Amino acid sequence: MIAPRRALREVFPYQPGKSIASVQREFGLKSVVKLASNENPLGPSPRAMAAYRKAEKFCGLYPEGTSPELRAALAAFHQVEPESIIIGNGSDEIIRLLCEAFLDPEDEVVVSQHGFIRFKQQASMMGARVIEVPMTDWTHDLPLMAKAASPRTKLVFVANPNNPTGTYNTHDEVEQLLAAVPKTALVVLDEAYFQYAEGIPGYTRTLPGLARAHDNLVVMRTFSKAYGLAGLRVGYGVADPELTGWLDRIRMPFNVSLPAQRACLEALKDGPFVKRGIAVNDAQRVVVARTLGEMGFGVGESATNFVFARSPVPGRELFKALVRQGVIVRSLDEYGLTHHIRVSIGTAAQNKALFGALKKVLAKVPA
Ligand SMILES: Cc1ncc(COP(=O)(O)O)c(C=O)c1O
Repeated sequence: MIAPRRALREVFPYQPGKSIASVQREFGLKSVVKLASNENPLGPSPRAMAAYRKAEKFCGLYPEGTSPELRAALAAFHQVEPESIIIGNGSDEIIRLLCEAFLDPEDEVVVSQHGFIRFKQQASMMGARVIEVPMTDWTHDLPLMAKAASPRTKLVFVANPNNPTGTYNTHDEVEQLLAAVPKTALVVLDEAYFQYAEGIPGYTRTLPGLARAHDNLVVMRTFSKAYGLAGLRVGYGVADPELTGWLDRIRMPFNVSLPAQRACLEALKDGPFVKRGIAVNDAQRVVVARTLGEMGFGVGESATNFVFARSPVPGRELFKALVRQGVIVRSLDEYGLTHHIRVSIGTAAQNKALFGALKKVLAKVPA
């Protein structure tokens, strides 16, 4: 057998949340609630879906590779020029493009210990040296991350708010990070959960000001969370046009389908839908945090659409017991957190199903 590149032998594949269909098949269950991948429990905006269906007639044609209409709409939305925007097959593709574009083997990448795991995985695939910086109170310690950055550092990844810890960094902290890292290091701010955090006083305001002021900053956003379009795979990065030009050169020629482009264009216009989703999430997050707390979990503050909780029993065992009841949550062993779980906030009915399943299994899970 032909051996893959050396760097790939070290890489552990990303473990996506278990799917509803696989749990239905495995346990013969009809009804399954998935609270494992931080999707929007309300699904997408009906307006976005109408645009998706309308684009059906173009499915025989290749889409325009640069997603020009969506790019222009995002440029207007964020008050930047269209050339500053690169659209990806999910923000996951932007993470990949950044690593492929900027990392030579042995270059350094700074991440935080319990930061979003895809940063570390993708950087490792390029043979880069990944420096993991400890967190403080489950929050990125940005001064420590800045200290870890050296002239060999090419990328500094910060998910803000962070997955899986649900914590966020303030505008001042981010500004200080940008001031402290060498200008040869690119700071990547992954704002996948932006819409859930933007109302918090002090939360980072990146677009357009910060992005315009720093040519070593990339801001990433996604349509997968608050817009409820995870299945269509659209995310984007905002950065200096020279930088997005490098990413554009190496992306797949037709990376986002036309129906997906059209749906996102419409989703962007449906502000009231996003607002409704945030209100449901805010209200339900309080209920989930309180109920899990009463059941013996240690629930952290969250600026997102999920909660991060210390579990009274091993997370993996709890996950297995809940799946049998038709409720999927996320255990966090891959983050080195054996006694924590991450639970996406569902609708009131979905959360009730979680509480019911927990009541049934919690006392029986081996400690
Ligand atoms: C912090 C963070 N960044 C990026 C992603 C990837 O999102 P997508 O590729 O769906 O845009 C996720 C998904 O869970 C995430 O939590």
